[in-house]
Amino acid sequence: MFARANQWRLSGDRIGLVPTMGALHAGHLSLVSRSNSECQRTVVSVFVNPAQFGPNEDFSKYPRVLDEDLAALNKLKVDVVFVPSQNDLYPAGFSTYIDPPAASLPLEGVHRPGHFRGVATVVLKLFQIVPANLTYFGQKDYQQLAVIRRMVDDLNIPVRVVACPTVRESDGLAMSSRNRYLTPQQRPRALGLWAALSKAREMVEGGERNVPILEAAMIETLNQHVVDQIDYARIVDADMLSDLATIESSAVALIAVRIGQTRLIDNMLLEV
Ligand code: PAJ
Repeated sequence: MFARANQWRLSGDRIGLVPTMGALHAGHLSLVSRSNSECQRTVVSVFVNPAQFGPNEDFSKYPRVLDEDLAALNKLKVDVVFVPSQNDLYPAGFSTYIDPPAASLPLEGVHRPGHFRGVATVVLKLFQIVPANLTYFGQKDYQQLAVIRRMVDDLNIPVRVVACPTVRESDGLAMSSRNRYLTPQQRPRALGLWAALSKAREMVEGGERNVPILEAAMIETLNQHVVDQIDYARIVDADMLSDLATIESSAVALIAVRIGQTRLIDNMLLEV
């Protein structure tokens, strides 16, 4: 993979890398299309990274549908689909990990300890294997994007991180590989995330700036949709992900809930 991509680099082609865990949907494919439109070469990686799953998380049941993924990517112009094995990336004796930046500590960092350590480690490995000029990440995973941006800056990694907007179903549900876990009875309840985020945005547009009031309104909306558990429904600084009492300039609302066994996350920028 490195030899091939390095050849492209040397011949002057701009390379885009889209890291994924597969089970591709229109959200992933929007990243691929963006790369295609900005780069001569596009590499999509498909790897369900064990290092970013906790011991009680869904690593073993995470959807693995490589044939469908390849068929979807075949319809777009992709130069290489890079599908390493677990042994390729984590051979016996592997023991070096990235200590992720401060943006990894709150929110997901509290509820999924070790998650961003695993994400940062595998993404850095992918950057080494695919010497890309540009790499495409979704705003859907807002905290992940913040962690990767900071890592790229902090470690002087010569790649530009491109943030791509969240692709949603027509009713607002953010596309996610985990949506396929939802039963038809659970699916309407999953709309609580979009409803709560929309409620916060509406209130901010109406002049509300008080973060505890906005967070309470999000929680109320989530409860109206009978989500089973709220891991968090927070409004924090959009850059540092640090606590805010009032919205001054750029804030982001982030939510993580459980519906049955399925954990869903979503977020929305709140700009004033
Ligand atoms: P995965 O969940 O497969 O997501 C791959 C990329 O697609 C991420 O950048 C994610 O933010 C983006 N994405 C997912 N749903 C999206 C949507 N609805 N709209 C726009 N973009 C969306 O994120 C990971 O994999 C992994 O943590 C990875 C970075 C590959 C490291 O293992």
